[in-house]
Amino acid sequence: MEFCDTVILKDGRECVIRNGVFEDGKAVLENYILTHRQTENLLAYADETNRTVEDESEWLDAMKNSPVEIQLLAFVGGYLAGMAGVNSIGRRIKLRHRASLGVSVDEEYWGLGIGRALLERCIICARNAGYEQLELDVVSDNERALTLYEHLGFKEWGRNPKAFKTRDGRYQELVAMRLEL
Ligand SMILES: CC(C)(COP(=O)(O)OP(=O)(O)OC[C@H]1O[C@@H](n2cnc3c(N)ncnc32)[C@H](O)[C@@H]1OP(=O)(O)O)[C@@H](O)C(=O)NCCC(=O)NCCS
Repeated sequence: MEFCDTVILKDGRECVIRNGVFEDGKAVLENYILTHRQTENLLAYADETNRTVEDESEWLDAMKNSPVEIQLLAFVGGYLAGMAGVNSIGRRIKLRHRASLGVSVDEEYWGLGIGRALLERCIICARNAGYEQLELDVVSDNERALTLYEHLGFKEWGRNPKAFKTRDGRYQELVAMRLEL
């Protein structure tokens, strides 16, 4: 899917939010590695990916051409500060109404409204694609993300107390949330 919009951040700067394209592959890979180093609240560790710039470019191209999926990128002064995506849960008849959501923002840019701006636009794109339900899992002590999701209308429907196990052996509880579109 394609999308483009501009938003003014809390510090007055302009942020361009648009779908990723082939040429963004390098910036997307760098942002992925950076954000996955900055937090333990995401599914993977940065060093667990073996994706290349080419992989990312081809994936972004496929997302752009997909009628049901999108990867949104948030640029501040030309720098890729954050990303969010809507992904189909399945194309079988019984699953077609459901999509999942993922978001990450470079820590240097937290608190400016980029996360909210990305997610609001993901919700618009998901509605436009015909989905009826957006879903996500969030680590239960990730207060910033939980607050954001709740403010956007997501409701908790369950918890998995031992969903993640970190490298140093700690369990992380996941909160399952859903939003009816
Ligand atoms: C979660 C994340 C995407 C939020 O991005 P962001 O750009 O900082 O988000 P925003 O600036 O739009 O602020 C989000 C909300 O956090 C709230 N917030 C800010 N600081 C907070 C804090 N210390 N505790 C709780 N909530 C806080 C704000 O009130 C805001 O909600 P509102 O806009 O409804 O008032 C970002 O912190 C991130 O990428 N974290 C690491 C990856 C991650 O956890 N992703 C989510 C996985 S489920």
